[in-house]
Amino acid sequence: EQSERDSLFIVSDFAAKHYQQRLHEHEQGSIGQSYLKQRGLSANTIRKFELGYSLDEWTDLTDSALKAGYKQQYLEATGLTIVKEDGKKYDRFRGRVMFPIHNVSGRVVGFGARTLKSNDKKSPKYLNSPESDIYHKSNVLYGLFQAKQAMRMQDMCYMVEGYLDVISLHQGGIENVVASSGTSLTEGQIKLISRYTENITVLYDGDAAGIKASLRGIDLILELGLNVNVVTFPEGEDPDSYIQKVGDTAFKTYLKEHAQDFISFKTSLYAKEAAGNPVRKAEAIKEVVASIAKIPDAIKRTVFFRSCSLIFDIDEQVLISEYNKMHLQGR
Ligand code: GTP
Ligand code: MN
Ligand code: MN
Ligand code: MN
Ligand code: MN
Repeated sequence: EQSERDSLFIVSDFAAKHYQQRLHEHEQGSIGQSYLKQRGLSANTIRKFELGYSLDEWTDLTDSALKAGYKQQYLEATGLTIVKEDGKKYDRFRGRVMFPIHNVSGRVVGFGARTLKSNDKKSPKYLNSPESDIYHKSNVLYGLFQAKQAMRMQDMCYMVEGYLDVISLHQGGIENVVASSGTSLTEGQIKLISRYTENITVLYDGDAAGIKASLRGIDLILELGLNVNVVTFPEGEDPDSYIQKVGDTAFKTYLKEHAQDFISFKTSLYAKEAAGNPVRKAEAIKEVVASIAKIPDAIKRTVFFRSCSLIFDIDEQVLISEYNKMHLQGR
């Protein structure tokens, strides 16, 4: 007998194929096609990520699905169809480029959907499927299904913010890349990565707000015993815009030349901010020691106390006694 979850997988698969069909074969699909082309994506890449287009109409998907025999119950449960109080139905995704989200075994569990309008303040840039019995956001990483083999081969995983960052890097030959899709990393997501590799390199968007916001998520990676490197990009660039701007080869060189371990990155960031201010320097040191304290491996901690003492220009013992104090307080 078919379970409820099976039915949700099946209707999600139908929707993914429907949106692809609309992109490639419907006359309105050319709007989506030219958008994707303008974003620098090749026909091959578009196929590989099963990208699609939702028509700018109220019930195109819902009508097609019902007509094909899919039950409204499952269209609602996946969030593809929204039912108003008066019983009127409409499609959640309309006039958007569709990014199907796969689970680790490659089944479609939800969608990200980008508006084509470049500065429409009324509707959000991205709409996403709601949580459902097959889509638990905290346990899904965009691109993992397409990345997992390369992650194992390279023994490393690049972590980016957005759908298009994943896709552009793939197109440029970097396949070991996944996205958190704008939310902060969860333990479940990090454990998914650790099935394939213990090494994560975080590629931040080049804006200060983004960097500060992700620092906390990274402590969680350290706590779970994984190794973290970071690369930052010039102001206003993200991995997608940057690889499209400089090309694959220069991008790969940039990654090699700018990767630094997370603790040194954080230490330098805080040391710079606290320069010439002893009170802030003391706070900065505590902040960094708190990150080092998350690392379960004692040898790694020792290495980081050493590099951190060089950056702050203070005795290693000061850091270690600060660590011991925290430890005794149960941190
Ligand atoms: P592009 O502008 O298409 O290049 O997208 P981006 O991925 O560079 O967007 P941005 O850096 O602003 O955001 C990173 C990620 O956060 C996106 O890929 C989305 O997953 C998510 N995100 C961005 N804007 C929104 C939004 O308006 N709503 C929701 N729910 N998520 C968003
Ligand atoms: Mn469940
Ligand atoms: Mn950003
Ligand atoms: Mn971005
Ligand atoms: Mn972008």
